[in-house]
Formats: sequence, structure tokens, C-alpha cells
Amino acid sequence: MTETELKERLTEVLTHYTGQKNELIPVLQAAQEQFGYLPAEVMQEIARFLRISESTVYGVSTFYAQFKFQPTGKKKVRLCRGTACHVRGVSRILDEVEKQLGIKPGETTSDLEYSLETIACFGSCALAPVMVVGNNVYGRMTPKKVAPILDGTEQ
Ligand code: FES
Repeated sequence: MTETELKERLTEVLTHYTGQKNELIPVLQAAQEQFGYLPAEVMQEIARFLRISESTVYGVSTFYAQFKFQPTGKKKVRLCRGTACHVRGVSRILDEVEKQLGIKPGETTSDLEYSLETIACFGSCALAPVMVVGNNVYGRMTPKKVAPILDGTEQ
């Protein structure tokens, strides 16, 4: 994305706000929804728009785990690290995903296709071990099921 595109997209986001300081969190959330993460230029523009210091914007955004500062992949692969999934061998699934994608949790593939994360109990313990790709939940995972799911050829 060029700098001009980025500015245009951010301007569009900011039109929904009035520039009050107390809009910082909703503005950050809307910007992240737009870009998938918070690029440095976006945070600088947000500071200007809300007439607060850049350090305040950085301070607040780094306080909340929901905000990301690196681009994330188009598809998010999440593996449950809850007790049921742990007991049923989710670590073998994680190893396979790491091998297939060549990344560790918290990282994104260089083509920006996939990000890998671990999550707390997903609430589907009966299906443990659980893997979530985008909005799709895959239960009773085995290492063998990983590659077909990631390349979209699962049955
Ligand atoms: S422990 Fe994994 S879904 Fe509950």
C-alpha cells in the first residue's frame, strides 16, 4: 500500500469521528480493522487528529493486547492452548503448523498469507484438540489434517 492510499483510507476512517481525545480507543480499533495492524504513520496521524501527543497514542495502544504493530496475515491460524486441548496433544498440531508455515506463534508468513497464534480455551473442549483458521473451527485435529486444511484441500 502506498503512503497516499494509506492516508486516504485513514481519512475515511477518521470521518466517523469528531477528534475528541476520548475517541482514542475507538479510533485505534477502527484503524486496526482497516489496516489489520497499526502502522507507525497511522498512529502519528491519529495523534494529530485527536490533538494529543504521539507518546500518548503509543502508550495507550501498547497497553492493550488487542492492538498489533506488525502486519498480520490474511488468514489467522489459532491453536487452543487450553487444558483439554493440551491433554489431547495440541502441541503436536502446533509443531505441524509451524513446520508447514515456517513460523512460530506471534509471527506472520513473509507473503502475509498466514499469522499463527495460540489462544486460551476456545469453549469447544469436546472437540479438542481445536484449530481455528479464519472463522472455521476444526476439531479433533491430528497432525495429518493440518496440511490439507492449510492448502484448502481438506474433505
Ligand atoms: S481447551 Fe481447547 S477448546 Fe477448551
